Amino acid sequence: MSLFNNFTTHIRRSCTLLAVGSMFTIISCQATIPPFVVRHLGDGHSIVQLKNSNKFLLLPIEESAPEVRINVMQNQNNVSTHHVRLAINTIDYYVPLDLTGFDIPALAIKVQNVPDSALCWRSFDLVNEFDTQNRESHRPIYHFSPPYGWMNDPNGMVYKDGVYHLFYQYNPYGSMWGNMHWGHATSQDLVNWEHQPVAISPDDLGTIFSGSCVVDKDNTSGFGKDAIVALYTSAGERQTQSIAYSIDSGKSFIKYEGNPVLTSEAPDFRDPKVIWHEATSKWIMILAVGQEMQFFTSSNLKDWTYESSFGEGHGAHGGVWECPDLIEVPIEGSNEKEWVLLCNINPGGPFGGSATQYFIGDFDGKVFKNQSPELTKWMDYGKDHYATVTWSNAPDSRHIGIAWMSNWQYANQVPTQQFRSANSVPRDLTLVNKEGNLILKSSPSPELEVLRGEVSDQRSFTVNKDYNIDKLLDKNNGLYEIVMTIKNNDAEFIGFRLFNPQGEEVDFCYNLIEGTFVMDRARSGNVSFSEDFPIPTIAPLGKANEISLRIFADKSSLELFMNDGEYVMTNLVFPSSPYNRASFYAKGGSYEVTSFKVYPLELK
Ligand code: FRU
Repeated sequence: MSLFNNFTTHIRRSCTLLAVGSMFTIISCQATIPPFVVRHLGDGHSIVQLKNSNKFLLLPIEESAPEVRINVMQNQNNVSTHHVRLAINTIDYYVPLDLTGFDIPALAIKVQNVPDSALCWRSFDLVNEFDTQNRESHRPIYHFSPPYGWMNDPNGMVYKDGVYHLFYQYNPYGSMWGNMHWGHATSQDLVNWEHQPVAISPDDLGTIFSGSCVVDKDNTSGFGKDAIVALYTSAGERQTQSIAYSIDSGKSFIKYEGNPVLTSEAPDFRDPKVIWHEATSKWIMILAVGQEMQFFTSSNLKDWTYESSFGEGHGAHGGVWECPDLIEVPIEGSNEKEWVLLCNINPGGPFGGSATQYFIGDFDGKVFKNQSPELTKWMDYGKDHYATVTWSNAPDSRHIGIAWMSNWQYANQVPTQQFRSANSVPRDLTLVNKEGNLILKSSPSPELEVLRGEVSDQRSFTVNKDYNIDKLLDKNNGLYEIVMTIKNNDAEFIGFRLFNPQGEEVDFCYNLIEGTFVMDRARSGNVSFSEDFPIPTIAPLGKANEISLRIFADKSSLELFMNDGEYVMTNLVFPSSPYNRASFYAKGGSYEVTSFKVYPLELK
């Protein structure tokens, strides 16, 4: 049963409309739920006065209703403002407004632009618990997703004292973009995540857009030794950069009184990524500004000096540049390292909408120089890999990246309700030399192997024409990893598909004439929510006699790692049941699948 059903039944059972006047409606509930009063003030203005001390006021949401402003007021003073799609005709789901800490008789919610006849007025509810056990079939299990509501970019990822912190762009008041907060979760193994209270909430400077965290080991900021310092964009009338710091290892954040710390005339001026540059003993901030990245330096995280800009004439420019990162990455098989500038771009990705490009080059603490200005390099060749950034202060000098697994073309429309969006699996980044060019390799982080259950199929087979696997797993709940190696004899096309009893399928094809690997989700299940969704994605894998593939499946995603992450494809899928069968075909010749293993995956 969905949450929505739970709550509507609950409300029908417990609440009665007592009197409806043109300006005054009293809703009374059974003894366990004392009343609240709704007063209509005319012209779409209303006030909800709460009369008891339950923990949450449940707000009924209709996604197609317009966003309206609600003000939470204590003694008639505004405490916080949110934009909420209050239900007018139908209720899609509820979101909780936390009433903790408020003095209830003096608490009221002012609402604007909602007609007196709207359904919401008889559908608010007061409860002490909010059920976050999402039962939607597309909710991923081992990929991180918010407890409820909307998520986009991963933010401020930082490792400290054995704990990986993940912050994220979060709307707790609906499953569509808006009201940006920094949500927070922690993990000790990058796989099991624990939800934490919201870390940073909007204020009068604006909502809280993307940014980064550092551990200030030498107390350069004066906030305290080892303080976690968050730098984020305050998105108000202007986009400016602000600071919040934590002196309790990320449990709570204090906003710096000198905010904002960096301003500009540029309208798109956001997503600060801050790193410590050892060679010059300076903090570096990289900011996305229009279609370029700007570099700033500081010795105390508060005062910033502009140094240089990078972008014009380099890489893709089909949209704004967002969410930068700058990391010094080792080249596999050597003792050398190169600087990699991650640059998310939207729109203008290779398959439409959002994507992550990167540049490899030199960085001297002030200026980034691209080594191969003639090339555009993409980090992932799927459609659902965006806002990728890496963990600061990660152990063993690792560069662990994570992406928001969606695309701005349809992120607000994907067929989920009580939550929207998940992250990719974590990936360890290294550089490899590929036919004379360095490329950024994203390998599944080794921690993911703890998810593996007993390997359930292990075989080798030859494909001349067709080869069918009737069952990937005896019990398939949609969570599995396929690991296979393919050796070509003389095939021109190596193809396979994953499919379910409903005939929904995802097609993969390695085209050896062109050296491309294609994934096609046009018939993968529910694709009707956006015409931008069922588009094949293509990786320039090159012509190889042998390839290895790892495919991570969760409830609504497939992540394909070719040659341990030299090429990656991250794509969402919304099947009506798990793909539990596979069939292979060959064209123009034959090939061997020299190893084929399927691991059921499970959070332990
Ligand atoms: C990228 C982005 C960022 C911005 C955030 C707002 O997806 O547009 O540039 O900070 O999302 O939620």
